[in-house]
Amino acid sequence: MITCLLAVSVLGGKSQAQDLLSNVYGRDYQLLNGKWGAIVDLYDQGERMQVYKNRKPQDNKQFYEYSFDGGLVLNVPADFNSQMPELKFYEGTVWYGRSFDTPKTDGKRLFLYFGAVSYRSKIYLNGEKIASHEGGFTPFQVEITDKVKQKDNFLVVKVNNTRTTDAIPAMSFDWWNYGGITRDVMLVSVPQSYIKDHFIQLDKVQSNLIRAKVTLSEAKPGINVQVAIPELGIRQNMTTDANGIAQATIKTKKLQRWSPDAPKLYDVTITSESDRLNEQIGFRNLYVKGEDIYLNDQPIFLRSISFHEEIPQRRGRAFSEADATMLLSEAKELGANMIRLAHYPQNEYTVRLAERMGFLLWEEIPIWQGIDFKNTATREKAGRMIKEMVISDKNRCSVAFWGIANETATSAPRNEFLKHMKQCCLDIDSTRLITAAFDLVRFNRESRDFEMNDSIINILDMVAINKYMGWYHDWPLAPDQAVWNVAPGKPLFISEFGGEALYGKHGDAEVKSSWSEDYQAQLYKDNLEMFKHIPNLRGTSPWILLDFRSPFRFHPHQGGEWNRKGLVSDQGQRKKAWYIMRDYYNQQNNEAQNKTLHGCPPPDLYGLERACPRKE
Ligand code: GCU
Repeated sequence: MITCLLAVSVLGGKSQAQDLLSNVYGRDYQLLNGKWGAIVDLYDQGERMQVYKNRKPQDNKQFYEYSFDGGLVLNVPADFNSQMPELKFYEGTVWYGRSFDTPKTDGKRLFLYFGAVSYRSKIYLNGEKIASHEGGFTPFQVEITDKVKQKDNFLVVKVNNTRTTDAIPAMSFDWWNYGGITRDVMLVSVPQSYIKDHFIQLDKVQSNLIRAKVTLSEAKPGINVQVAIPELGIRQNMTTDANGIAQATIKTKKLQRWSPDAPKLYDVTITSESDRLNEQIGFRNLYVKGEDIYLNDQPIFLRSISFHEEIPQRRGRAFSEADATMLLSEAKELGANMIRLAHYPQNEYTVRLAERMGFLLWEEIPIWQGIDFKNTATREKAGRMIKEMVISDKNRCSVAFWGIANETATSAPRNEFLKHMKQCCLDIDSTRLITAAFDLVRFNRESRDFEMNDSIINILDMVAINKYMGWYHDWPLAPDQAVWNVAPGKPLFISEFGGEALYGKHGDAEVKSSWSEDYQAQLYKDNLEMFKHIPNLRGTSPWILLDFRSPFRFHPHQGGEWNRKGLVSDQGQRKKAWYIMRDYYNQQNNEAQNKTLHGCPPPDLYGLERACPRKE
């Protein structure tokens, strides 16, 4: 089995495993956000010219054909495409540079942390290359303790968003290829010996056992570590093993389990002999039994919605708390209890706010359609990216699913690739449910039902299907006759359905090419009718919350760059289908509430006793 490497190339390009600092926002940090000098390097000449040295003429005879001063200025964080019209379609290299003074660290260690840089980057500090990273949607860091001066450090980031066949995503994908330093940049200081990683959560099944694992920066045994959860009266002492890892199973009783309806988070403090880290953690049970998904021992129906990490009104990447609030508030109004964060890991503001607001999350890396599954280097790259995602968000109880692919075609190399992705997730987190979205359901004209023949579903906890009935596929029979026989014995989730509509365009409810709200509304009604005939359906996720930008889309209705499948327009206006979906989710929620009131937990799972709640 190929191991799943976690590697940020540092020290001039040699790979070394470098775990991500856990919970940087709970650390002592300084943001390097703001206005950076920038150079658009259309022919990729900057390395030859050594722009990363940021040299200035020292006498009358010297000159340099670049400068980070007095020229282009770009905002960080933000994609560069939305910052000036000339960069709207730009794919290539942009150099960013800025100076900074080192925060007072009195003997602490200093890390440079990037929330994300899209798509590939090289990091230079004071003229020296210190790191490189590939992947536009996961954080990475590099230690700079011994590389910084007190004053006037100069940081240069080479960013390139050119698509390549071995990239993830590869050459074509249905969203805008935003490039740039698209998330926060931080200087994070930690003690010499610090808490490098922690993983604290409720057991998958047992509601009275908290599993805690704390990893220190030094692989030394016998160091005292404590996990405290004051509200639960927990102060669990542990000691590290020879790998610097301390772990414990903590018994608790009076726990309020996190759920979308009651997103309870607890203050957790992790201390070692030299470090202290504060966290907010939710505790919930999550498992699959048969065709049901159980959250806190109750079967749950996933009222999901997807959104891209994009604010359509400003035609750019979302990156802030305010952006997260806009997107998640719109999802809450829809009555959703889950978000499929499409098609890539999204920023920490969104993930943490979703947890606070009460959304389950499906997170995925952009293994989207045409990936070079035969390329082992691509497989290792994908393994690293998926591990960066899992390491970053494994303490977020709202994360329920790790998604390992979207719309991949059946093949042996694809199967091996996806098994590797699943293993990379399980290596770090054996608790989340593994899923993937497929567009392989076909109508069988003999048996008159919808089927999928692909053995890959056997490795999944939940099978997800993208199916555009009424849009890419016409109805072979009336929606109320459409019976599905897909993945019997497993929970099935409709991870995408829908069609395009221009907000404000009405009439022509029968005409697909009208792009009318009425056509889209009827399409939604028809699909919701079909969903009643999917016996193992356990959730739906319309594609998509908001109209979004895509170079795939050429029609005037699409304005030459918009995918109009949003329930909400690019200006935030709700289309007719939004109200249809909102009513459907409200109905699902009411039914679930009734069941919970009078239901009992499932038959004993893993032989655990459960008291059935008192009948109302
Ligand atoms: C696919 C894909 C989406 C895409 C959608 C569409 O299912 O997963 O990323 O945007 O179809 O065509 O609108």
